[in-house]
Amino acid sequence: MLRLVDQLRMVPEVARLAVRTPRNAAVAWEGYWSRVRTTGPAGEVLWDAEIGPEAEQYAAVMDEFMDRSMPVIDVGWGNGRWSRWLSRRFPQVLGVDVSASAVQRAGEESEGVRGVDYRTLDLTVPGAGRLLQAEFGDSHVFVRGVFHVLRPKQREQLGRNLRDVVGARGRVLLTETDYRGTPLSYMQSLGARPGSIPAPLRRAIGSIPAPLRRAIGSIPAPLRRAIGSIPVPGHFGPAERRAALQDSISTVLADGPALIEAIPMSGTTTTSIPGYLAMLGSR
Ligand SMILES: C[S@@+](CC[C@H](N)C(=O)[O-])C[C@H]1O[C@@H](n2cnc3c(N)ncnc32)[C@H](O)[C@@H]1O
Repeated sequence: MLRLVDQLRMVPEVARLAVRTPRNAAVAWEGYWSRVRTTGPAGEVLWDAEIGPEAEQYAAVMDEFMDRSMPVIDVGWGNGRWSRWLSRRFPQVLGVDVSASAVQRAGEESEGVRGVDYRTLDLTVPGAGRLLQAEFGDSHVFVRGVFHVLRPKQREQLGRNLRDVVGARGRVLLTETDYRGTPLSYMQSLGARPGSIPAPLRRAIGSIPAPLRRAIGSIPAPLRRAIGSIPVPGHFGPAERRAALQDSISTVLADGPALIEAIPMSGTTTTSIPGYLAMLGSR
């Protein structure tokens, strides 16, 4: 009961943040990334944890199903952390993102890393997959935390593009958050509490006038930034995969629950979010 009351007390602030979210997703992502100043475990980007045990889940299925001599395309690469990890396993990695600011930041963070290239591209635009196929031939795809932020039609279009990218030989490693509660209970699970202000949030809002500070005092800073500028994180599991990919990449080689790591909401302990992982092929 108390948890429900707590959730209801968060509603006004969440609603206020959601209103600020631009309707056009590409504009929203560019707005988000253009304001990011720090990345990594002590930074602002919710999903940009230091790579830890989460990667072991991916390495295991990659070993089993992916030809290591093929290129891999990191779809929605954000600030490129996972592309840098992939470059130790594949000869050529292309990071693509709809946000030019993300691509620029990721390019700077990836300077000197061999085998990593990048470009700005919206993978929900028809034909984007064919362009990549023409340039790279059959390729693998790594996609982490992108499907769940897209609308159903965009998910289907992304699926069709990925089908063109992988061709006959490529595989898709898809990994998404799959928290099954409401957005408010999700935020609570990440540490949002009316009346208690986690340390990173206190630092972040130190310069805001007191009445406003009281109003936003319940939501940890990385989460507040995420929901203030981009769609609220959703869930994506087997049912959502089937709906999105039924006419494109429908062969499931392996799938199951996964743990997605996010940055610490307070202290130094990485936040674990329930997720879903699938290794897919087009045939
Ligand atoms: C939740 S973040 C995940 C970033 C990265 N994959 C990671 O795990 O660190 C989602 C990313 O997808 C990008 N994105 C959203 N829609 C996209 C689209 N249509 N095409 C390409 N990238 C997109 C966003 O700009 C953002 O960087």
